[in-house]
Amino acid sequence: MLRVAVIGTGMIGRDHIRRMSTVLSGVRVTAVTDVDAAAATQVAASIGATVHATGEDLIADAEVDAVVVCSWGPTHEQYVLAAIAAGKPVFCEKPLATTQEACLRIVEAEAAYGSRLVQVGYMRRYDVAYRALKKVVDSGDIGAPLMMHCAHRNASVPGFYEKESAITDTAVHEIDMVRWMFGEEIAAARVLIPRKSPNGGPLQDPLLLILEMTSGILVDVEISVNIRYGYDIRGEVVGSDGTAALGSLEPVSVRRSAQVHSPVPADWRERFLLAYDVEFQEWIDSIAGGGAPLGPSAWDGYAAAVVSDAGVEALRTGSRVSVTLAPQPALYQSLAVTS
Ligand SMILES: NC(=O)c1ccc[n+]([C@@H]2O[C@H](COP(=O)([O-])OP(=O)(O)OC[C@H]3O[C@@H](n4cnc5c(N)ncnc54)[C@H](O)[C@@H]3O)[C@@H](O)[C@H]2O)c1
Repeated sequence: MLRVAVIGTGMIGRDHIRRMSTVLSGVRVTAVTDVDAAAATQVAASIGATVHATGEDLIADAEVDAVVVCSWGPTHEQYVLAAIAAGKPVFCEKPLATTQEACLRIVEAEAAYGSRLVQVGYMRRYDVAYRALKKVVDSGDIGAPLMMHCAHRNASVPGFYEKESAITDTAVHEIDMVRWMFGEEIAAARVLIPRKSPNGGPLQDPLLLILEMTSGILVDVEISVNIRYGYDIRGEVVGSDGTAALGSLEPVSVRRSAQVHSPVPADWRERFLLAYDVEFQEWIDSIAGGGAPLGPSAWDGYAAAVVSDAGVEALRTGSRVSVTLAPQPALYQSLAVTS
């Protein structure tokens, strides 16, 4: 039984604790911590876990085999580095860290350690529809991939959501997904600004992010974060001999009064519920016997941060911004971006 400890018992931390405690197998959440001690104590009591005063204490606990980091983004670096120093597997919710320099420090620490310990929470790679789409692309059935059209639509976003969040919080999932989908890096980013939605308040909403892959594949991502009608994730790959798109996920379609009605997920939790379950079960299974995690790596977290920065610069300047990555340590070279 893998003994997992969770840093950060906020919204997603509690959700991951729920799935590890009641849905998944081979795992037990044995310790938690949060700067909000009352929140940590309440969660710990509900599952019979220990509460630690700090993340560092929790990582040092000999009764903890692996760590899940669900605290605020700016705190991720310190906990991931501490877990690497302790030689413990660490699952870090995205982002790996909030700057590309911090992500690179993590990459370098893990490379110096010599084997993989870090996995980053990019759950789309575990979604049944994305996996089916990648299978078609990899099979060659639609020929050479040339373009991908994506849409990332949120019904609404919270008040603290900023202009850059459209890239750094929202489109960052597409940034990771297309690197994995095509098994190659992103070479440049551009942002086009359409007519402004009256629903977006001070935000420039929607945006169109254009990503150039190293092979020349062009990806466009519509980012609409006040679309009102629901949470709608789309993706279609255009190949030289055909196209393949994410399938319809609606569990029911109702026809009445001369109309067809199908439900749309309310938010990302509903849409990716099962992807998170698969993501965590595969993580647990991969590290349970002392193995290395197989999912998104520290390098993937670093690459997403660099592309995200390029996207933010493109948004600010209106220019095409090239992506330059640091030399890739040997540890990640065999992984390409396909794991
Ligand atoms: N993969 C995804 O789709 C996805 C979805 C939601 C959130 N996230 C990521 O998960 C992380 C948490 O998001 P959330 O929505 O749960 O936020 P949240 O604010 O609900 O929870 C964060 C918790 O971390 C605690 N915390 C902050 N600093 C801490 C520290 N130094 N040590 C211990 N605890 C600390 C806070 O008190 C809070 O309880 C963010 O990085 C976010 O980007 C990822």
